[in-house]
Amino acid sequence: MHALGLGTWKSEPGEVYEAVKTAIEIGYRHIDCAFIYFNESEIGQAIQDVISSGTVKREDLWITSKLWNNAHLKDQVEPALRNTLKDLQLDYVDLYLVHWPVAQKEHATFPSSGDDFLTPEEAPIHSTWEAMIESRNKGLTRHIGVSNFGVERLKALAAKSWVKPECNQVELHPLLAQNELKAYCDAEGIHLTAYSPLGSKDRDPAMKRDNEPDLFENPVIKSIASTHGASPAQILIRWAIQRGTAVIPKSVNPGRLKQNFDAARLQLSEHEMNQINDLDKGYRFLDGSIWTMEGSPHNISTFWD
Ligand code: A2P
Repeated sequence: MHALGLGTWKSEPGEVYEAVKTAIEIGYRHIDCAFIYFNESEIGQAIQDVISSGTVKREDLWITSKLWNNAHLKDQVEPALRNTLKDLQLDYVDLYLVHWPVAQKEHATFPSSGDDFLTPEEAPIHSTWEAMIESRNKGLTRHIGVSNFGVERLKALAAKSWVKPECNQVELHPLLAQNELKAYCDAEGIHLTAYSPLGSKDRDPAMKRDNEPDLFENPVIKSIASTHGASPAQILIRWAIQRGTAVIPKSVNPGRLKQNFDAARLQLSEHEMNQINDLDKGYRFLDGSIWTMEGSPHNISTFWD
């Protein structure tokens, strides 16, 4: 897996086709997708077109997708993955992730009340995981993993299955360095991928708090950026790569796609890495509160454990 990938959450149909095509032409080889981004068919067309034009071969690309929360039951997993493959116009994905440790009833794409959830007893995560393993055994995905799992959830899964997730994709940036999770994943050979590495400022306002911190305006990030003649976004991306995580900044803008790709070439000093590491304050832009509404089986105090 290339450490630097293209994020596609919030990339709208109508713009994501060009973004993916341009990214691959720039040199991106890792594209991060998900059913719930509702744009996989356009991404599939872009992938198909760059393969047909000879820009890349299928095997040069690393395509990740994710199982949505309303398809966690054992017999729902493979059909969900096949649906994604159809949209992406692919025979296999490189990595398929359980998007959230949250199960919902099939009709409930997003929960509107506590009734829309399935309890962990109704949809045990290890059963979902068994179906993920079966999909991998059938060759529909080369690798399997999870997303938004904390250490306790990874340990609970490990206690029930001898197959470890190969990857855990989580929110990760200097304000949420995920040190404990990273140490656990490093020790267990689970690769960490950083989502929302730039702070996902283009989220729906309903998902934002007032006075959110702005990573681009952080004085430490800005000062290191000016030392390198780089942008704050590039410093955030390089920090993630230099720490040994994969990172999937989203952009639909050709200039920023190129800028983000070029960040991989920067080199931060140990002192600069330490200065950025010191910014960690456990701050989440995505706090998981949508999954812990009244009547939900999930609790915010233990959600990220
Ligand atoms: P755009 O798509 O117009 O480039 P995240 O990856 O954390 O979700 O953040 C994505 C947001 O960051 C989007 O609003 C994206 O806008 C913006 N963005 C991506 N790359 C850069 C960059 N190099 N400089 C400034 N903003 C960027």
